[in-house]
Amino acid sequence: MSGDELARVYRGTLAHSTRQSALCVLADSVLGVNARGKIVFVEDGQNVDRLSQDWGFEPSDVEQLGTYEFLMPGMVDTHIHAPQYLYSGTHLDLPLLDWLSTYTFPVESRYEDLEFAEDVYNKVVKRTLCNGTTTACYFATIHTDASLLLGQIADHFGQRAFVGKVCMDLNSMVPHYKEQAQESQEETLRFIHELLERKYAHVKPVVTPRFAVSCSSSLLSSLGKISKNYDLRIQSHISENKSEVELVKKLFPNCASYTDVYLKHDLLTHKTVMAHGCYLSDEELKIFREKGAAISHCPNSNISLISGMLNVRNVLNHKVKLGLGTDVAGGYSTSMLDAIRRAMDTSKALSMQDPHLQPLTFKEAFRLATLGGSEALMLDDCIGNFEVGKDFDALRVNLCVPGSPVDVFPGDGPEVILEKFLNLGDDRNIVEVYVAGRRVVPFHEP
Ligand code: GUN
Ligand code: ZN
Repeated sequence: MSGDELARVYRGTLAHSTRQSALCVLADSVLGVNARGKIVFVEDGQNVDRLSQDWGFEPSDVEQLGTYEFLMPGMVDTHIHAPQYLYSGTHLDLPLLDWLSTYTFPVESRYEDLEFAEDVYNKVVKRTLCNGTTTACYFATIHTDASLLLGQIADHFGQRAFVGKVCMDLNSMVPHYKEQAQESQEETLRFIHELLERKYAHVKPVVTPRFAVSCSSSLLSSLGKISKNYDLRIQSHISENKSEVELVKKLFPNCASYTDVYLKHDLLTHKTVMAHGCYLSDEELKIFREKGAAISHCPNSNISLISGMLNVRNVLNHKVKLGLGTDVAGGYSTSMLDAIRRAMDTSKALSMQDPHLQPLTFKEAFRLATLGGSEALMLDDCIGNFEVGKDFDALRVNLCVPGSPVDVFPGDGPEVILEKFLNLGDDRNIVEVYVAGRRVVPFHEP
């Protein structure tokens, strides 16, 4: 089998983003996927007879989408803490630094126990997949074996994922939840080697210094070198909360800014995604732009922990790569639909304070959750929209399922259907999820 033969053909409405347009709704289109999970054609529905001859499929092989159905690209969660899923929806009553030492570090320390880790990691992968997250960029914990287990579970359920073994050697406040710099570096190398050796098709390691507060200069430097030597992505946090920014100034007096800390340690590259960035100056955004580094906007977390409000318009104006993140469990929702809604709320709240600020549109938020996320993770050559040649990472959405949280009315056109889904829909409407052409929701379970 060459893999080039056709595996599936859909006819109906497609919605996706392109570089030129935040939202293209293609009514009555046909989309073909080959056996390797690649999109091989996207054409007007009128051309189905010619396509069936060219590609050798029967008109009866075409899967016809209903009037209130559409396909959209899978969503990309550019920042999520898998271990924190245990307490998502709770513990939202403290600001960041107290929240970390009171709730997060004690919970994360428990992931030395692999049975415990297996339970939570199974649940978070399944929950995010059901909610339409086809790609997740995960923080795990400092524990190498549990981090490898997260990779194994993402692979098992067919989710595309980056997994980071967390590195932290300073300021933990929880004595049994920190590492020595040397140990952190060695375990990061072990994690990278073992994960790469497993040759998972869609699960890869990401170098993960927790944030500048938790890492010594020597640890940051060694992680910068590792990411360079192995050509890996990097993820961390930046400028999330004012007290954190002040602390970083004190901890790194020789650095001009928070951004400069990562820059000086070779951690700000075109393969870097930094979460939050609420308090980045225009000068810092220019450095992000020059380096090709991305920001993960995590609006639920920013509000839930009363951290700040990212000015998305300003980031977009600086042409910095931008995706959305749930930041579970600082953000209480695992759903990227929630991230879309919260991103729009934050942007509208900021525009109340400054009427010159153009609020984010639902189309722009849709792009951030799909194509924007793929750009932030340097995956836009492979996923993010329905361009021919990309992998078929997609959601089949149906607004007319039993128990649907959304009502539709005669005359609701395809764009209205999409907007209603983004604002009102949930996992009940996500009837199928595909990653690289493989159907991963509903789950294949015994
Ligand atoms: N900064 C450092 N660690 C964390 C974390 O786990 N969550 C959030 N929101 N910010 C952080
Ligand atoms: Zn985070």
